[in-house]
Amino acid sequence: MVKKIILDSDPGHDDAVAILLALGNKNIDLLGVTTIGGNQTLHKVTYNALAVLEQAHEYKVPVAAGCAKPLVRELETAPGIHGDTGLDGVDLPKPSRSVIDKHGVDFIIDTIMGNEPKTITLVPTGPLTNIAMAVRKEPRIVDRVKEVVLMGGGVHVGNWSAVAEFNMKVDPEAAHVVFNAPWPVTMIGLDLTHQALCTPARQRDIESIGTPTAKFVSQLMDFFRKSYEKNQGFVDPPVHDPCTVAYLIDPSVITVRKAPIDVETQGTLTLGMTVADLRAPAPADCHTQFGVKLDADRFWQLIHEAIANIGEGMDR
Ligand code: BDR
Ligand code: CA
Repeated sequence: MVKKIILDSDPGHDDAVAILLALGNKNIDLLGVTTIGGNQTLHKVTYNALAVLEQAHEYKVPVAAGCAKPLVRELETAPGIHGDTGLDGVDLPKPSRSVIDKHGVDFIIDTIMGNEPKTITLVPTGPLTNIAMAVRKEPRIVDRVKEVVLMGGGVHVGNWSAVAEFNMKVDPEAAHVVFNAPWPVTMIGLDLTHQALCTPARQRDIESIGTPTAKFVSQLMDFFRKSYEKNQGFVDPPVHDPCTVAYLIDPSVITVRKAPIDVETQGTLTLGMTVADLRAPAPADCHTQFGVKLDADRFWQLIHEAIANIGEGMDR
């Protein structure tokens, strides 16, 4: 069954792969990309979103710029991981089009309210500011959305502090709103995404497709490999964000576990930590779950197929 999604992202090397995976798989209907200040400033990541779509020769999917800053705090970007542009290491095509004339938050609200209930899935792969703003501005979206499948957080591991992941740490108040709204939330956190490692063999497999988009992805991975090695001590980079889309294409790619999850907004050492209560089986009304185990072979197969499809030109 085709799933209609809105990607809310801050491209970002792995966000770019998430966009390409959504574009290249026929079971995903990408209704729009909204952008959020995160890996880099809003201006830069919005340019990057348009450039990634341009790379894939995709000119119809609307791009709407969202919030430049978190709800309460100043924006902290990640140049050490994604470079000064947010997509360092690749030759980005110059976008031939611009964003639509609508704020990203309004695009999210209008798309959800304008479609049948329970047909739209939100896929945030950056800080959750836009999603929290949308919930506050139009609370009816909470009942209307099918589900939220987000990249962020982690149950046993952090990357922006000992216990907090970047997207959560940048806007913990927004994350608090999103996890506490009573819609179904799947957290694809670091426990899961640290299994999505782009080994040299995986990268060679993508390169072997031989198209400009395959080369583009390989260049992204070259940069990502170096920055993750230098800043986080990884041998192979974890390609976080496309795990969300892969889960929607084929839920069997990721084993999930239900548990109540909340977000720390007060802690001095734990700010932005996603706290999962694992003391007992989740209560029947639990609306949150997190990714535990990735079928890495199947995940990389989906990425390969999507990039190969884009090479042939998707019939959309
Ligand atoms: C997340 O932070 C960003 O740098 C990546 O794009 C991903 O969304 C991983 O912590
Ligand atoms: Ca991201």
